[in-house]
Amino acid sequence: MEQTLITLHPDYAIAPVDPRIFGGFLEHLGRAVYQGVYQPDSIHADEEGFRKDVLAALREMRMTALRYPGGNFASGYHWQDGIGPRESRPRIRELAWQSIEPNHFGTDEFIKLSRKMDWTPMLTVNLGTGTPEEARNWVEYCNSPAGTKYADMRAANGSRDPHGVKLWCLGNEMDGPWQLGHVPADQYAIRAQQAAKLMKDTDPGIELVACGSCTTSLPTYMEWDRTVLEYIGGYAEYVSLHRYVGNENGDTADFLAVTNSIDKQIEEMDAACRFVQARLRSKKRHYLCFDEWNVWYRTTSSEHTNGRDQFAPHLIEEEYNLEDALVVAGFLNSFIRHADVVKIANLAQIVNAIAPIHTRNDEMLLHTIYYPFVMYVRRREGVALQAMVKGPGYASRSYGYVNTIDSSAILGDGQLHVFLVNRSLSDIAPVHIDLIGRQLKRIESAEIVTGANAQARNTFERPKNICSQVFTNVQLRESQALVELPPLSVAALTFRV
Ligand code: AHR
Repeated sequence: MEQTLITLHPDYAIAPVDPRIFGGFLEHLGRAVYQGVYQPDSIHADEEGFRKDVLAALREMRMTALRYPGGNFASGYHWQDGIGPRESRPRIRELAWQSIEPNHFGTDEFIKLSRKMDWTPMLTVNLGTGTPEEARNWVEYCNSPAGTKYADMRAANGSRDPHGVKLWCLGNEMDGPWQLGHVPADQYAIRAQQAAKLMKDTDPGIELVACGSCTTSLPTYMEWDRTVLEYIGGYAEYVSLHRYVGNENGDTADFLAVTNSIDKQIEEMDAACRFVQARLRSKKRHYLCFDEWNVWYRTTSSEHTNGRDQFAPHLIEEEYNLEDALVVAGFLNSFIRHADVVKIANLAQIVNAIAPIHTRNDEMLLHTIYYPFVMYVRRREGVALQAMVKGPGYASRSYGYVNTIDSSAILGDGQLHVFLVNRSLSDIAPVHIDLIGRQLKRIESAEIVTGANAQARNTFERPKNICSQVFTNVQLRESQALVELPPLSVAALTFRV
């Protein structure tokens, strides 16, 4: 294959990479909470009931902002059901996923877990069936000093000091007709504005995420965002966007080109924010919170989404393969390339439900998508650089022309990190990396994920079929790097500069 030349320049900086783009998402959905992070009867349970094996795997992912408790679940959730002595918490018929929710895990357990894991907690209030006042009370429960009603409840539940939750989402996917309490944009905007005002009156230090379009395919796409931002923009710091992608047609080359449409979605949402800012002659710039993203398409039928009134049913337990891992890397490349506008992003989700980690009784499996995330997160500090990419490409069926090599780069403190995805199904890709005006002095580390074919995956029987490995096909010549990427691979490289 013809060589790809990646030219970088330290002055062509996009913006510092916000560590919160390496966030995650935990929803009361299937076996994400119960049998996922929390399972007091597991041999792996710690003294608080958290699964140590799962937490150890998650720790390697060094996630930052962790969104909870949903998702669709949030739109029917009443947070007071999940606090206080466990034996008096109600058992609820949960409607988003048609499951039984015993409320054994709630706000205080999530905060404990966040502290253990060094996560920044990010709570989604219920603007589907909940009220603005209920949202405001949750802020008091979490953030006010003891001495008033809800803060005293927290103290009585064992936490005298406030939980200090700074990031709050104003509902979930309220533009989706499937959402409990779904309403048109103007009605959501009024609800969210009422909640936002009460929440910020309770704690002016919090940051709010307004629900933006959760998919590009609804007829309300963009119009929803304009309406919502015009109405509540003054109260919110971020607007959310979601994206799930899949290889429904069994066309790997096309699937790997989906990054074009992720870039486009980000740029369109940013355009909506800029449009509203200009129209309102406002000084306030809204940033993007990509608070759900992943590959999800094999388990979308009701067989996988309806819990049939079971507790912890097996729902949306997607099993990921190599091409999915490359697409996950593509999402991360896109977030890094848009570091000036994407400030928060949450991989949906973290365990069992569309997740990198999978449990089966006391066993645990790491899916393919686990590895690129860990490779990127180890190299997340610094400023995103614009890359000039010159090399071969192809016209994809659905997403237009793409370079064969998808890439991003971060310039850190004396280090350059480069991320490369080779989308070729068959060919080794030679890549030349040149950082203008600086010398690449040494290869500090290089890792790769690749495999025999796009569908290769990990199973409990062959758990290490696809995983990251030390990558040796990198050389320095005259202070520039020469890389030979195998077909269907993602590499993460760190150079001393
Ligand atoms: O992550 C699974 C679901 O996808 C979430 O609950 C919802 O917000 C989205 O539709």
